[in-house]
Amino acid sequence: MKFLTAKQLKELYLQFFKEKDHAILPSASLIPENDPTVLFTTAGMHPLVPFLMGQPHPLGKRLANAQKCIRTQDIDEVGDETHTTCFEMMGNWSLGDYFKEEAIKMSYEFLTSSKWLNLDSKRLAVTCFAGDSDAPKDEEAARIWLSLGVPNERIAFLPKKNNWWGPAGNTGPCGPDTEMFYWTPNDIPAPSVFNPADKRWVEIWNNVFMQYNKNKEGKYEPLAQKNVDTGLGLERVTMIMQGKTNIFDTEVFKPLIEKVKELSGTEINSENQKSFRIIADHMRAATFILGDEKGIVPSNVDQGYILRRYIRRAVRHGRLLGIEKNFCKDVAEIVINNHKMDYPELEKNKQFVFKELDKEETRFKETLDSGIRLFSKMAEKKESISGKEAFLLFQSHGFPLEMTKELMLEKGMRLSANFDKEFNEDFQRHQELSRLATEKKFSSGLADTQFETIKLHTATHLLHAALKKVLGPNVNQKGSNITAERLRFDFSYDQKMTQEQLKQVESLVNDAIKRKLPVTREEMSIEDAKAQGATALFTSKYGEKVSVYTIGEFSKEVCTGPHVNNLSELGHFRIIKEESVAAGVRRIKAILAPEPQEKYMSH
Ligand code: ALA
Repeated sequence: MKFLTAKQLKELYLQFFKEKDHAILPSASLIPENDPTVLFTTAGMHPLVPFLMGQPHPLGKRLANAQKCIRTQDIDEVGDETHTTCFEMMGNWSLGDYFKEEAIKMSYEFLTSSKWLNLDSKRLAVTCFAGDSDAPKDEEAARIWLSLGVPNERIAFLPKKNNWWGPAGNTGPCGPDTEMFYWTPNDIPAPSVFNPADKRWVEIWNNVFMQYNKNKEGKYEPLAQKNVDTGLGLERVTMIMQGKTNIFDTEVFKPLIEKVKELSGTEINSENQKSFRIIADHMRAATFILGDEKGIVPSNVDQGYILRRYIRRAVRHGRLLGIEKNFCKDVAEIVINNHKMDYPELEKNKQFVFKELDKEETRFKETLDSGIRLFSKMAEKKESISGKEAFLLFQSHGFPLEMTKELMLEKGMRLSANFDKEFNEDFQRHQELSRLATEKKFSSGLADTQFETIKLHTATHLLHAALKKVLGPNVNQKGSNITAERLRFDFSYDQKMTQEQLKQVESLVNDAIKRKLPVTREEMSIEDAKAQGATALFTSKYGEKVSVYTIGEFSKEVCTGPHVNNLSELGHFRIIKEESVAAGVRRIKAILAPEPQEKYMSH
């Protein structure tokens, strides 16, 4: 083992895979483009779904990168030694190129070779898929590990719950995986028999063998190509490379923890440690979300709600540590300084990040104390409070549901069986977009709704081009979200659009559709795309070669697809709403309806 910083580890990983003929991709946005199945990018594979399904990737069949990720499902574990909601995932992919043997051998070489990480192979253990009625036991993966010297007692077979990855939604690419664990204590020798339930064995890397597509009937059908999708947790491996047993002791988090110490004038002890860690993690997550190019702001729906939860929870834990004044900005500044080299968008959007954090912090602090008082009153002499009361706390004091649950747990209260249901019933009555819609978003797969979303994706390009024609060339995309039912498009423009302008945009789009323009894809360098006047977020980093989609003479955009082949497939385009979402950002919701019926006069 050698001491490495996170930055050095990242460089080494990319160097290793470059030497193995992988092209290095830039990190994609945290907000998935055109993927209605998830709110955030939770793994490097998200932006690659179309390519795992068989579309050729402009950079080839071997790819690797570092991807910024947000995983809200781990939020309750933040505070332990190794869990975060915001992390960087190192990944390598084979798109129908190498498979199990080469993937496992590469992982093993990178981890244990003295040229690379030089980790102690005697502290390694692995899990493989145990097999079930959908797919067989992964004897092959185990055999490869054995051939590399990992003994039988260090290979555990676990079911789908543990050793299967994907699909991201209900449908899509997925497969069995094999996970690598490292024994973290430096003073206790690794037990000869691996027990995956022992938390001292920390999962560091996952190799997924994506060879199935889960279809809408829930069946696992073999994919046309066998892929590999891997993910190595940068923060965890950094911890190991520094001989530490928790990630918060590495340079990734330590300056954040130190800042919180300074701001609170409080030393860490076993009682308050969790608050320090929650603030460090959640501020890192909030800074990355706000600093993303998509301009997400705190709100009560979708990504904005998650962001709000992070900020408000951090603020409450700051209060527990005795911090009175606004502090989020101070912590965010360190996050930005730590990561701006790799993620220049953080520096670029710095003022926006600071402003939004400060606004949300100020807004929440107005109601935090009285909310805590109301909660205490509700909780007085009771074993539990109801979902209805939790909703009241949300509505009157801005307490996210999860915060109330956390307060209840701290008081040793139990949640009643229909707690969430009661909350949601009231919530739905009060929200434009209900939580259920959000949940539906998680559960509706990409593949079953794929054609509808592809159509709306093409319509989004038409809308973007039409807006530039009507409102001027400075109009730029700020965000896009597509479900099978509608498209939602955010763009920079600082006034409400007039009825006349909306009509013009609709007619331009519908004229293009009536002309049955073809949609074509070409691969070219980013310079050529620019020279041809293609629309793109040129501020973000792209790979050397990009795909450019052209729709007649109407639109040309850098985009990974997919799209319909001809506009004749689209139907009639209709704008259903135009509104403001943030200062200088407007939002349009639009649908594609079947052709309007021609009305004939009856004789
Ligand atoms: N997509 C896989 C994971 O996130 C590699 O674990």
